[in-house]
Amino acid sequence: MLTKIITEGTTKVEVPVPDENSNFPPSSVQVFYNPAMRANRDMAVAAIACFSRDNPDYTYLDALCASGIRGLRIAGEVGLNTTMSDWEEASYGLIKRNIELNNLSNCTAMKRNANVVMLDSSFDIIDLDPFGTPAPFLDAACFSTKRLLCITATDTAPLCGAHKKAGIRNYSAVPLKTEYYPEMGVRILMGAAARTLAKYDKAMAPLLSYASAHYVRLFVSVKKGIKEADECLKNMGFLSHCFNCGDRNWKLGLAVHMEEKCPVCSHKTSLAGPLWLGGLHDREFCQKLLDEAQKREFKDVRKLITSCSDELDIPMHYDIHKVCKLLGITAMSTIDLVTALKEKGFQASRTHFSGISFKTDAGMEEIKKVVMEMAGS
Ligand SMILES: C[S@@+](CC[C@H](N)C(=O)[O-])C[C@H]1O[C@@H](n2cnc3c(N)ncnc32)[C@H](O)[C@@H]1O
Ligand SMILES: [Zn+2]
Repeated sequence: MLTKIITEGTTKVEVPVPDENSNFPPSSVQVFYNPAMRANRDMAVAAIACFSRDNPDYTYLDALCASGIRGLRIAGEVGLNTTMSDWEEASYGLIKRNIELNNLSNCTAMKRNANVVMLDSSFDIIDLDPFGTPAPFLDAACFSTKRLLCITATDTAPLCGAHKKAGIRNYSAVPLKTEYYPEMGVRILMGAAARTLAKYDKAMAPLLSYASAHYVRLFVSVKKGIKEADECLKNMGFLSHCFNCGDRNWKLGLAVHMEEKCPVCSHKTSLAGPLWLGGLHDREFCQKLLDEAQKREFKDVRKLITSCSDELDIPMHYDIHKVCKLLGITAMSTIDLVTALKEKGFQASRTHFSGISFKTDAGMEEIKKVVMEMAGS
């Protein structure tokens, strides 16, 4: 395997060089390395540094570590006691060389199945960064984690409803391909995490949950307790969507009745869930995270943290272009519409999910009225 040494953050990492003749999906080389996930790893470094600030003795597991780049950065840049594991021989060799390259004495390298590692030992913080779906690792991760669970999922099509049957198989929930599909993906994954943690009498509290172009990412703090787990499950529910007029409704609970007909246009509604209807972020944590990212000069994640922190806790969003298309008018700017909704007394915000979308507590018919007024009709 041809390799080179790169620097990410302040960590040196020996990584594979893709064959010049291959057109480089990162998974095609012997050991996976994707430079485009740097922002994802920067966010992990900043988030885990914030989370463990008063507890430098927390343990961290990079359960699917490939070159080890993520775990190496947590060990070197945050200073936590880190275990890095991958079941591939080539990865294991590389992880050991990378630990030496960085002179790290707080790292353990393993060549093991991730599920075995997690079922064998507990870790304060577990990070799952699989190819595609984290579903095969969710159970063991929820069993093993004591304080924080970090999950990346790149199977956005199943999560967001584009591959509905795969979504149902992996997450035991029905996703729906709506205009707010990235948020659907985040909430389906969060719902699966909350229900899996509950099996082990654990509750989760979201610190930061977001969707970027190719993946969904969660940071949820974890607490052991039967009462806490029961409380946490109260954030689960269902969402109904009318593909005719765009109206949507949601209801908390795992055994709920949702109207089959749209209350606005009587068209048959479609149902998604069970999914997480609670908040996506902890604003206090986001403020600390922003300071941490600033201090570390992680420029590419600061805007995302601010957008997440500024968005309303409403479990879906609206796409301005879709609303305007329904009304046959030209779309206005997101910020103008958010301001107009606020002037009418509604809550409204932009959302990190899309630059042309907004969140509001106004219903679809109220939004349409405001939009029509803005268009001057
Ligand atoms: C997407 S890569 C990890 C990328 C890495 N975390 C990073 O930031 O560059 C997924 C890795 O999981 C490993 N893997 C897949 N299934 C596994 C399992 N059951 N146990 C251990 N490793 C596994 C693969 O060998 C691969 O190296
Ligand atoms: Zn309708």
